[in-house]
Amino acid sequence: MKRIGVLTSGGDAPGMNAAIRAVVRMAAYNDLEVWGIQHGYAGLIKNSMQPLSTRSVADIIHRGGTILRTARSEEFTREAGQLKAIEALKINEISSLIVIGGDGSFRGAMALVERGIQVVGIPATIDNDIPGTDYSIGFDTAVNNVVDAVNKIRDTATSHERVYVVEVMGRNSGHIALAAGLAGGAESILIPEGESSLTELCQRVIRGYQRGKAHSIIIVAEGYRPPGVEEIQSPGMYVGQFIREKTGFETRITILGHIQRGGTPTVMDRVLASKFGAKAVELLLAGQTAVMTAIQGNNIISVPFNEVFSGQQEVDLEGFRLAEILSRP
Ligand code: F6P
Repeated sequence: MKRIGVLTSGGDAPGMNAAIRAVVRMAAYNDLEVWGIQHGYAGLIKNSMQPLSTRSVADIIHRGGTILRTARSEEFTREAGQLKAIEALKINEISSLIVIGGDGSFRGAMALVERGIQVVGIPATIDNDIPGTDYSIGFDTAVNNVVDAVNKIRDTATSHERVYVVEVMGRNSGHIALAAGLAGGAESILIPEGESSLTELCQRVIRGYQRGKAHSIIIVAEGYRPPGVEEIQSPGMYVGQFIREKTGFETRITILGHIQRGGTPTVMDRVLASKFGAKAVELLLAGQTAVMTAIQGNNIISVPFNEVFSGQQEVDLEGFRLAEILSRP
């Protein structure tokens, strides 16, 4: 193995650049050459790649997004696309690849593994929904972005004594909502993994005001669905309107959207990304394939893709209960 490829795939996550930097520099330290593949698997199919020198990754550790760009490739899900990808790797004499992305990106990578390419994954998604690792790159920054927004909303919520519903990202999971709710002192948190009755939520809001609370902040994960309701565009809008109708309180709704995914990565994400990037190169050197770097406790380890695909990334239900207790007026 002399030349390795690196790509970022799926939704971007702050810290991806720090991971690319670590891959390139750890590879150089071990006399390996790294080629950066543009636009994820879509770029791989088009043979869009170039060498990355140690200098080319200078001044990126603090930048959100990904210098390699990213994409979700429909073509790569089909065999014809996968064969083109293999061909591009062969032409450029790359037999080892580091994929920075979510578990969907790792599932895609299996098509390459089955055709003889050595692949190591680095978990990166703000959703933190990848089984096998306590944290994925980008989660900490996203949560900090949300808490920053909630702090600001809290000021105006108190002034007007309003209810604020804040919808946060998390397509199928409530990790962002939970951590931001606990850190931001939210009165209630609604997540896909929990069963929360909106009627009880309204009673809680009313009780809070009766006991002298100046405002209520409700954090709703975008993947949350009220019991018995499937088809809604925005759970935040739904919950806000529900509270307004049932309680009569002045209610405002904020959908934070992609603001959560941008900005300079936090220290935690930079450190994690640096460790994951270095570990990924070490795993390739050790001959491992179809594995992902992971953090469990304080240990940086590797987890086989098969365990990632069959596992569950449980939400912190203790944290959920704690947030509820601590926000009681
Ligand atoms: O997977 C990360 C994520 O930010 C989800 O939380 C969100 O549902 C989705 O990506 C949004 O995707 P897009 O950027 O394609 O709109």
